[in-house]
Amino acid sequence: MSQKTALVTGAARGIGLATSKLMIERGWQVAMLDRDKEELEKVSAELQHATAFYCDVSIPSEIDQTVPAILERFGRLDAVVNNAGVAHFGPIEGTDFETWRTVMDTNLDGVFLVSQATADALKKTRGAIVNIASISGLRASTLRVAYGTSKAAVIHLTKQQAAEFGEFGVRVNCVCPGPVRTKLAMAVHSQDIIDAYHDAIPLNRYGSEQEIAEVIEFLCSERASYVTGQIIASDGGFESTGIGLPSLRS
Ligand SMILES: NC(=O)c1ccc[n+]([C@@H]2O[C@H](COP(=O)([O-])OP(=O)(O)OC[C@H]3O[C@@H](n4cnc5c(N)ncnc54)[C@H](O)[C@@H]3O)[C@@H](O)[C@H]2O)c1
Repeated sequence: MSQKTALVTGAARGIGLATSKLMIERGWQVAMLDRDKEELEKVSAELQHATAFYCDVSIPSEIDQTVPAILERFGRLDAVVNNAGVAHFGPIEGTDFETWRTVMDTNLDGVFLVSQATADALKKTRGAIVNIASISGLRASTLRVAYGTSKAAVIHLTKQQAAEFGEFGVRVNCVCPGPVRTKLAMAVHSQDIIDAYHDAIPLNRYGSEQEIAEVIEFLCSERASYVTGQIIASDGGFESTGIGLPSLRS
């Protein structure tokens, strides 16, 4: 009961899995939540101090069942990492309403619903929420009408949550990853896009899951005890930079 507990959504692979592993390494116990049951069971079975919870964050009734089960299992909740996400790249005219809704259901509604369902538990521990948005929520670019808009909304939702939960000692921050070679990114990043990212990023490369997890774990921890309402890009410098990098390099 005295060991700090984190809930990580989208924990079966990619950034969520790396975050779960890092948090366990740093002494947390982790409720690993994902809708991919097979993968979740496989990866969580290999970890100590982790319990798998099969749940789709876009379905309110599943969250209503899962959050009490997490609290019953661990007895406390100190951090929530709203990481589960889906990506779709397509032009505005080619994004039908069903696709738009699918992206919003997980990327925006999921963050709203999980945060709402865990708020009371976090107030008890004066815990923390870390929402995962994206550089696509900070800067517009082609083909990201649904994905980018959902992530921009998560950025604002973070500020709303920080404003309301602050008086209860609950901190809420947002991490905006740059490109990371996960299944999500590789499904939508063509070689052209990969090359364009390399050109536009001062560090001239993709990030790793571990590099994003480090920022998330810091924001969950007491080391960030006076940080709330912040949007932190872990993006190799992409957000801070304008045009001209390839010319400067050559
Ligand atoms: N990889 C990148 O380049 C990148 C860049 C910016 C932001 N992000 C964001 O980081 C987060 C993690 O992305 P990733 O690259 O690790 O993706 P990933 O596809 O490797 O992993 C996402 C995980 O979320 C789970 N998931 C998806 N929808 C869910 C739902 N409705 N309910 C429960 N689980 C669900 C998937 O099953 C999967 O295990 C996402 O929010 C993504 O938008 C990723």
